[in-house]
Order: sequence, then structure tokens, then C-alpha cells
Amino acid sequence: MKDYGSDSKSALQAKFDAQKIAFAPIMFQAARALRNLGILAYLLKNKRNGSGVEEISQNLELSVYGVKVLLEAAISLEMVYVKDEKYYLTKTGYFILADELTRINMDFTQDVNYLGMNHLEESIKHGKPEGLKVFGDWATVYEALSELPNHVRKSWFAFDHYYSDQAFPELLEHIESNNPDYILDVGGNTGKFSIFCAKNIDNVHMTILDLPGQIEEADKNIKDEGLTDRISTHSIDLLNNDIPFPKGNNIVWMSQFLDCFSKEEILGLLNRSFAALDSKGALYILETYWDMQAFEASTYSLHATSLYFTAIANGNSQMYHSNDMIELLEMSNFYVDKVIKDIGVSHTLLICKKK
Ligand SMILES: C[S@@+](CC[C@H](N)C(=O)[O-])C[C@H]1O[C@@H](n2cnc3c(N)ncnc32)[C@H](O)[C@@H]1O
Repeated sequence: MKDYGSDSKSALQAKFDAQKIAFAPIMFQAARALRNLGILAYLLKNKRNGSGVEEISQNLELSVYGVKVLLEAAISLEMVYVKDEKYYLTKTGYFILADELTRINMDFTQDVNYLGMNHLEESIKHGKPEGLKVFGDWATVYEALSELPNHVRKSWFAFDHYYSDQAFPELLEHIESNNPDYILDVGGNTGKFSIFCAKNIDNVHMTILDLPGQIEEADKNIKDEGLTDRISTHSIDLLNNDIPFPKGNNIVWMSQFLDCFSKEEILGLLNRSFAALDSKGALYILETYWDMQAFEASTYSLHATSLYFTAIANGNSQMYHSNDMIELLEMSNFYVDKVIKDIGVSHTLLICKKK
């Protein structure tokens, strides 16, 4: 791994940054309240003239006290600035209010992670997602998905789909270049990618592998789209190395999938992918590697997302460094034939062939 980070800050700045961490959960809730109570939207509407506390309080039917404490926190959060006794929205405040990516990340943090993160330490000690127990008694979040409370499911799927949906259209040419007849969509979830391929690539046949709860949803979606003759589905526990994948595929597709598994488990999945490909077939791995990001904000988000895997999802996986994946590919007799960077928000596609 190359070098990352440094210790070049002044002590004063470092101590301030330490306080940002010390109060982060409180300030996170302040930002959400400012968003959800309509205060940010009000400031945006009146951005030219600014807004006073009393005026906001009257218009939004909130107490002066409530508006005041939230707006004062917002000064420190750099979401607002004050001039001549009036509050104005900053760019950061605007992003918290109106940026789709930020909203999806905040809702994921709140609805899926907030309570469970309190169990991060135990999760690290036990190698289990101890935070998942705030929702019920499951070994992994994937088994729980179809049964989680609606608002939690909504935020989980919004997070998952936001990133993969943006990547799929950019990938079509790379898939078509392989002239595939048979694509195996491993961890195909509710069928979005397979439906996209069936609609856009003539005659291709898709097969989705996933857990029963997700396959049930995928079956509904495939039927609604009238694609039952083009897309097959199999309910399967992909962690069971004794269950081989269907054979004879031109492409084995894994999108935002291998990050759901430990390195040891990934090896089992790669070995079964190898057996599922014909001799000229290719393994396509679409992932968000934290070392391959164009922006610091993406790396920051991915490092945080890794801890969702630790405390909520399964206790043993993460958003990987690309070297981790390349090492596992080597071990399972693949080589990386092509690397396609900067797809969608933050993805890299590795096209891998048999050695
Ligand atoms: C993060 S989602 C990715 C979904 C989709 N490929 C995408 O790009 O949006 C991971 C998928 O892997 C599935 N999965 C996780 N563990 C599994 C297991 N043990 N057996 C079968 N599927 C599993 C989950 O149900 C989920 O649909």
C-alpha cells in the first residue's frame, strides 16, 4: 500500500478536529433536524435577505428556543453564516438540504446505522455484526433485508441503488464488447442489472443468484417487465462453497457484491466463478475501492461505509483496497485484463480473464 495521510496539522487545529469527532453524533442530529424541520429550506427561500430567528420560528411554528439552538449549532457546522443579525445558508447547508447523494448517505447513516453503531466495539471483538440486533435476530443484514422496518429498507435500497444505478448505463459498451449470450448476475438483488441488460442487449440470457427474500422481489420485478423468458433466478446461499454456480457463462457479473464478504469468503466465490465461466469467459467485478477515488469525499465515505459492514451487515467485510482484490484474483487463477476507472459516482470495473 502506498503512503496515506500525514501529521502536519498544528496542535490547535488537531485539537479542534478532535472536538469535531467528540461531538460528531450530536452535530449529525442537529444537521438532520435543521433539514427535516424545514429550517434549511426556509433559509434557501430567503437567501437574498437572510432570516431572523423570530421570523423562522413563526413561519415554521417552532419555538424560538428550538430554532435558536439549532441555528447556533449550524454556525459551527458551517451550514449557515450570520450577518447583521440575519442567518444565511452556506454551500454546505445547501448540500445537506438539496444534494441527493448527501441526503441518501445521511438517511443510510440514520436509519440503517445510527443505533447499531453503538455496538461497533463488540462487533470488532466478536467478528459479528452486533449492531444488527437492534432490528432483530439475524446472522447478516442480507437475511434481514426483506423483513426490516419499511423506512430502514427504503434507506438501505436507496443507498445501494443510488451508486449502482448510475454505473450501469456507462458499463453497457464494456459488457457488449464481450458479445455475451449468458450472463450470471451473482448477488443480483432485486433484478435491476439483469432487467437493464435484458432490455438493452439483444438475446442475452441472464441468471440471478441471491437469497430467497431478494429473489422473491426480483421475480416480481421480472414478471412486471415481461422478461421471464430472458431472466432466470435461483435462491441460493452463496456462502456455501459446496453449491456450484450454474456453468457455461460468458460473463460472471458481480456488482457491489464482493464487499459483502471476508477475504476468505471472496476466494470461495472467485473459485466458483472460475468454474462457471466458459474458457473465453470473463469475470466482471464492479466495486468502489477506497484507494481508487478521484475525490477525498469518496474515500472518506467509503472508510465510513466499511464500518457499516462491521457493525450491521456481517461483521467481516469492508470496502476494499484494490490490492486486496487483485491479490485474491491472482490466488484464484484470474488475471486483470482491463481496468475501467471512474464509473458512475465512484466505481472501478475490473474485467478479469482466466490465466
Ligand atoms: C450490496 S447488494 C448488491 C446488489 C446489486 N448487485 C447492485 O449492484 O446493486 C449485495 C447482494 O448480495 C446478496 N447476498 C449477500 N450475501 C449473500 C449470500 N450469502 N447468499 C446470496 N446472496 C447474498 C444480497 O442479498 C444483496 O442482494
